[in-house]
Amino acid sequence: MNNAQQQKIEKTIGELYDDSRLDKLKMLKGAAKSVFRPIQPSDFEEVYLSISSEQGKHLKELIVEKDLKKIVEFGTSFGISTLYLAQGVLETGGNIVTTELIESKAKKAVQNFQKAGVDHLIQVKVGDAMDNLKDHDEEIDLLLLDGWKDLYLPLFRLLEHNFHKDTYIYVDNANMPDSKVFLRTVAGDNKYHFQSMFGGTVVLITLKAAH
Ligand SMILES: C[S@@+](CC[C@H](N)C(=O)[O-])C[C@H]1O[C@@H](n2cnc3c(N)ncnc32)[C@H](O)[C@@H]1O
Repeated sequence: MNNAQQQKIEKTIGELYDDSRLDKLKMLKGAAKSVFRPIQPSDFEEVYLSISSEQGKHLKELIVEKDLKKIVEFGTSFGISTLYLAQGVLETGGNIVTTELIESKAKKAVQNFQKAGVDHLIQVKVGDAMDNLKDHDEEIDLLLLDGWKDLYLPLFRLLEHNFHKDTYIYVDNANMPDSKVFLRTVAGDNKYHFQSMFGGTVVLITLKAAH
């Protein structure tokens, strides 16, 4: 049963990667809008900006291997990363809360989750993650940070009380300037362990006591 479902998710992911092949061109168009003002998420309304398939497969394996159930994602976009997370929680019996600022992107993501047959596993919160996660009152087994990098630190602080000794925090685009500030600040707490992956583009944070 899960096999057929996993294949359905894989098929949807494949179609979305196909559809994202013009991302580089669309990114340039988006970036051009910000010549005279700071860059905004809406400049990338049509751009996937997704994690790689290698990252996605690793995330799925991490979820299954560590039996992670309660997943929170910052930055849904069109849902490629969320679908990999869904492949994981399908095996562990978990669920996902994901957040997307741009309404049109969130709507398409929901359609993609329906198409893949996993919408029942995913709650999509539309709007600023800082608002829609402020009352999050469940423990978090895995937090995926993949939204705008200047929010990594405040969002981490907002959700820190939901972490437990075996929580994983997956930091995408860890080599970007705002991410580096975030990682340096959190390292100052002396509570966390940092594992650099994928050539430094990803950092996996765990609590020191646990590992
Ligand atoms: C790098 S993309 C996410 C890609 C997605 N995780 C994937 O791999 O398919 C970042 C997304 O974060 C969204 N975003 C930016 N600021 C946000 C905020 N304050 N709250 C929620 N989402 C935000 C952007 O609109 C964008 O779609």
